Amino acid sequence: MPVLRSLGERFAGEHPLAGVRVGACLHVTSETANLVHALRAGGAEVALCAPNPLSTQDDVAAALAEDGVEVHAIRGEDMDAWAAHVAAVVASGPQVTLDDGADLVTAIHAARRDLLPGLLGATEETTTGLVRLRRLEAEGGLECPVIAVNEAFTERAFNDRHGTGQSAIDGIVRATNLLLAGRTLVVIGYGWTGQGVALRAKGLGAQVVICEVDPLRALEARMDGFEVMPALKAAERGDVFVTVTGAQDVLGAAHFERMKDGAVLANAGHFDVEIDVRGLAAAATEHREVRPLVDQYVVGGRRLNLLAKGRVVNLSAAEGHPAAVMDVSFALQALSAVHLVRSAGELERRVHAVPAALEREVARLKLDSLGVEIDELTPEQAQYLSSWDRLGR
Ligand SMILES: NC(=O)c1ccc[n+]([C@@H]2O[C@H](COP(=O)([O-])OP(=O)(O)OC[C@H]3O[C@@H](n4cnc5c(N)ncnc54)[C@H](O)[C@@H]3O)[C@@H](O)[C@H]2O)c1
Repeated sequence: MPVLRSLGERFAGEHPLAGVRVGACLHVTSETANLVHALRAGGAEVALCAPNPLSTQDDVAAALAEDGVEVHAIRGEDMDAWAAHVAAVVASGPQVTLDDGADLVTAIHAARRDLLPGLLGATEETTTGLVRLRRLEAEGGLECPVIAVNEAFTERAFNDRHGTGQSAIDGIVRATNLLLAGRTLVVIGYGWTGQGVALRAKGLGAQVVICEVDPLRALEARMDGFEVMPALKAAERGDVFVTVTGAQDVLGAAHFERMKDGAVLANAGHFDVEIDVRGLAAAATEHREVRPLVDQYVVGGRRLNLLAKGRVVNLSAAEGHPAAVMDVSFALQALSAVHLVRSAGELERRVHAVPAALEREVARLKLDSLGVEIDELTPEQAQYLSSWDRLGR
């Protein structure tokens, strides 16, 4: 994770977080450990718990604890233990919280309001967390500034387009060992994530068909060179289907009835509601597991292969986002924490976008790590681009 490493090296010289208590509720993985190292290099005291008991890597938790980090997370812990662990991080009195689902910052708002005056701000890594925090803001209850890391451009581009795009295809290939070249792959939903899946599938030689409900996104897909059609029509064409919409029952009985023998169904959206799995089971006359993570349902004499029981395929059948993706996300988290500390008392108590300068800094560090150099505007160009009176100059 070269971006975090170079930030850590810089932080070690500047100590921008000297003595700051940071509470983090992030998946306890080796990637998060690198973020914790960078924060501590900047002088922060870090207490860590997990947003999901199943994502904790116990060896990473143990190594961090041995290194002096306050870690409250055990893989597979029950909900009571999990809640006690979140409460323990809250009790450390964080001045900055880093969340993946808003658990820490909302716990402080709900149960430890005495800590709110010392809370300089929070960062949030997920859409779900931002929904909760925007709700709190709308109700007039948000008592600290929040940086919406999840909505940063670099996050969208890296996390959604490249991270999920690649790992969703990876999951499909690992689960099925299918050759995608020459097959028709239907992507339902052409948002950031769907675009990533479509681009990778095209690169592997698949014929890609896009289904959308938004005319702008549908037009974009068409202009990007993909075939666009309604899902019912695509149901007859596809060999592989990938749902990435965030909506429910995107593939249902009417689609299953039209699908070809051997069709593969995968979901890369957040929840396992995009493919109507119950409807598929109800319509099937036979069901068996043909490979690990591949359930085959026979519908009208045709075999339909559901991957990972309709759960998110890149996490269930592959390894989720590669470290290079988390490198960029967590660099934004680290710089956002520094921004909250440097702007203490100046930011309004609302959800803020990541400042553009931070995004540019992360992009520059990433380019450096790739050995890519870029041009700079000459002073004359900068002057020309910023003046309103271009004709009279
Ligand atoms: N698997 C992962 O690791 C991962 C990573 C990022 C996002 N996601 C999830 O992927 C989903 C999409 O995320 P995104 O960032 O691309 O969102 P997005 O809003 O950019 O795109 C979703 C697209 O789906 C379209 N859509 C909605 N309902 C539809 C329907 N019934 N038929 C056809 N198109 C439909 C929308 O018009 C939109 O263009 C979300 O559930 C998100 O949580 C998963």
